[in-house]
Amino acid sequence: MTTMTETATLRLGDVAPDFTAETTQGRIDFHKWIGDSWCVFFSHPKDFTPVCTTELGEVARRSADFKKRGVKVLALSVDSVESHKKWTGDIEETQKTKVDFPIVGDENHAVANLYGMIHPKALDSFTVRSLFVIDPKKKLRLTMTYPASTGRNFDEILRVIDALQLTDKHSVATPANWKDGDDVIIPPAVQDAQELKTKYPKGFKTVKPYLRLTPQPNK
Ligand code: BEZ
Repeated sequence: MTTMTETATLRLGDVAPDFTAETTQGRIDFHKWIGDSWCVFFSHPKDFTPVCTTELGEVARRSADFKKRGVKVLALSVDSVESHKKWTGDIEETQKTKVDFPIVGDENHAVANLYGMIHPKALDSFTVRSLFVIDPKKKLRLTMTYPASTGRNFDEILRVIDALQLTDKHSVATPANWKDGDDVIIPPAVQDAQELKTKYPKGFKTVKPYLRLTPQPNK
């Protein structure tokens, strides 16, 4: 049973709406549950469906990858907690993994509405494949919406988390298809020669005055 029913349009930088909900691991107060961690909060359309089974299996298999980045995972659909618990057995059997993250039961759609996870023109009254990355300050840092027929690429989600955590610590941006260890971009605003020396001690390559590449600072 959730406690909020408001519908919201959520944008990057907004505070992720807080809620209380029942999950497969008991009742949670969302912000308190996130604590000082990052969070991936994602919805799937329905329990006991094929694409969703592979998605939750993949997230479970990647548990160590989320943990090493300090990320807690929370799933949701408008099915009941009892249904989630039964389906978890199927996920573990077919995907050969242990589902160690909680799944919110949202039969009254309260949390789904709060996060705009129901897109009635795409899928009746079920949640679509929404995903939010939330930082320890509870700010939304990534929002993604996929259709029911397309399973998500969780390598990409981990890649974005790597980029967010890197760019929070260092004055850099990441180019197309960047992955951990690749060169990164120096923001055009950094022009002062001394600042360039201090911030990018490994040096940099100027491709164009606005496109300068430097080795990843924390590698
Ligand atoms: C699936 O997970 O396979 C699925 C769920 C709802 C609609 C279509 C596909």
